Amino acid sequence: MKKLFGLVLGTMMSLSVFTGCGTQDDRITVGLVQLVEHTSLDMIRESLVAELEARGYDDSKVKIDYQNAQGDQSNLNSICKKFVGDQVDTIVAIATPSAQAAVAATTDIPIIFSAVTDPVAANLVSDLNKPSGNITGTSDAIPVDQVFELCNELTPEVKKIGFLYTASEVNSQSVIEQAKKFAPEYGFTFEEMTITNTSELQQAAYSLAGKVDAIYTPIDNNIASAMTLLSEVGKESKIPVYVGADSMVMDGAYATVGINYEELGKQTADMVIQVLEGTPISEMPVETLNNFEKVINKTTANKIGAPDHVEGAIIVE
Ligand code: TRP
Repeated sequence: MKKLFGLVLGTMMSLSVFTGCGTQDDRITVGLVQLVEHTSLDMIRESLVAELEARGYDDSKVKIDYQNAQGDQSNLNSICKKFVGDQVDTIVAIATPSAQAAVAATTDIPIIFSAVTDPVAANLVSDLNKPSGNITGTSDAIPVDQVFELCNELTPEVKKIGFLYTASEVNSQSVIEQAKKFAPEYGFTFEEMTITNTSELQQAAYSLAGKVDAIYTPIDNNIASAMTLLSEVGKESKIPVYVGADSMVMDGAYATVGINYEELGKQTADMVIQVLEGTPISEMPVETLNNFEKVINKTTANKIGAPDHVEGAIIVE
């Protein structure tokens, strides 16, 4: 009898979900917030959602409320406030500013971030190994020293590098600090140029390109979202643009040494599942990837007269 009742109730519920006039949707809810659309963040989100589905957390079990802030901080804040109002079971935040908005909106709903370069500098956790609040996730910390090594190997004539990034992005600041430390070790001098938004990118890039032998841009969301502009400047000025992420090379930069973001998306999904299955955040250290890949853009290489391959590199066109 109980069984039959359950069956009838179950059918009624799924019918009501189906017809959209239901009393309630009893699926788990995940609020998924992404800062902006750019190749890398899109890749992370797609691989994260695909992994959730592959592991049984598909549409029948989880309702994913995906919101994109279109690069706007106040959108981020209102999206995260709405998630809290809707009492989602967990918040997944892609990129640093999204994670910062999420943590400002709630101290009790668990938050899993993805691709936060420096979670400590961003004030999300104070210890990567022991998250003490309601937030943890995956970091895409990158090896600046290896990019410089690649630069020496591929383009040994480069002596002065222009560091181009967005002043307000803590993920970029943190990498640039390391870059400044490593530059002398690899025999480089540098010149710094910051922008506040993408409308300044083209002009800043041209003026920097006139003064340096190469440009280095870290994993900067703002610049990644307008990457083709910077790539064009590199090609026209015939200087290599080294970057922090594979997607930026796909979007026309010359080369990088970085992590695989599809992999990172999967790893983030794994952490989301752990939270949904009841693991406390305090038992989930921030996770990183430490297999780095070299990526070279062949079309760009040929345009600027630089080598279009190197041992072990992934070649894109
Ligand atoms: N790491 C960036 C952050 O902390 C997000 C990011 C992931 C990114 N992949 C990228 C930025 C590629 C630029 C390009 O916000």
